[in-house]
Amino acid sequence: MVALLDLMQTLTTPHPVDRYLELVRPMLTVRDMRARIVEVDRSVPGTVSLGLRPTRQWTGLRAGQFLQLGVVIDGVRHLRCYSPVNSQHDSRRRLDLTLRVHPHGLVSRYLHEHARPGMIVDLEPASGVFHLPDRRPDRVLLISGGSGITPVLSMLRTLVDEGYAGRVVFLHYARSPELVPHRAELAEIAAAHPNISLETRYPERDGRGFDSAELARVAPWFADAHTYLCGPPPLMDSVREVYAASGLSERLHTEEFTPSTVPVDSADVDGATTFSTSGVTAENTGASLLEQAEGAGLTPEFGCRMGICFSCTSVRRSGCTRNLRTGELESDPDQPIQLCVQAAVGDVDIDI
Ligand code: FES
Repeated sequence: MVALLDLMQTLTTPHPVDRYLELVRPMLTVRDMRARIVEVDRSVPGTVSLGLRPTRQWTGLRAGQFLQLGVVIDGVRHLRCYSPVNSQHDSRRRLDLTLRVHPHGLVSRYLHEHARPGMIVDLEPASGVFHLPDRRPDRVLLISGGSGITPVLSMLRTLVDEGYAGRVVFLHYARSPELVPHRAELAEIAAAHPNISLETRYPERDGRGFDSAELARVAPWFADAHTYLCGPPPLMDSVREVYAASGLSERLHTEEFTPSTVPVDSADVDGATTFSTSGVTAENTGASLLEQAEGAGLTPEFGCRMGICFSCTSVRRSGCTRNLRTGELESDPDQPIQLCVQAAVGDVDIDI
């Protein structure tokens, strides 16, 4: 079979076999992974939930991992990271995604407006280190805010499917009950399992944000638990602070889909960025190198735009760049860097 595929590939070079197959049957792929949208639910304001049927290349996920979904908008393929909400034991050969629609989010807005059953999207395999360990802890605390609910819901569903007998608290922050995706299911799970508690907080209404007193109230055993956290930066920062103050940072596992960037000091911004393979030079603006390349009319590959997927990796031939997440300066020549989370400091040469 492999030899046959290689022969077909040789015959169709320079294009992959899948480029021809997609013209006839897009779900019949040799190497690419795709999915057909089979269900669309827009009932929760500001979100769209998609049911997907992946092609045979899909090999599953570990609860909490993300995947990249690709859509073609105006002829350009865009990739974004989303965490499926499925249990890792879901045997239906189906992926369920719940996407928060960001006002400036090209892909989420496109899917909110245009997704319909029958539409085909591209998929990349599940990845990421934010997942439950193989040996389940005795106590698990899941903390999420807004659309950060998705990876921890996957963990909760997985534990339920396994008949997990340990203690679980699911603490979720939202602006209002109507904005909590899968709210009815969460309540059902908590009602059916005495070892699982659901705690929802609406800080704008009830004024209850996250702090050490709240943590001690909902999970007094948190020091013995493993905590999984995904949400907006203010929530992530509050939880990290409390765990750091307790000396428990190693028991806190986090996933963030919003980059927490270090502001670039305008005094550091000078010089020019050269994209030498393209023969293009642009004045530094302090923006990420990905944005700067796009502003100069180039179209480098990208996925998440937040330093997760490595799609945007290119070689820095020379010069100094600042890591926008850590603030660190890096200047080793001929190093691969992620363009979306690096900005130029002075003259820089990038190999695109
Ligand atoms: S686009 Fe994903 S790491 Fe840069």
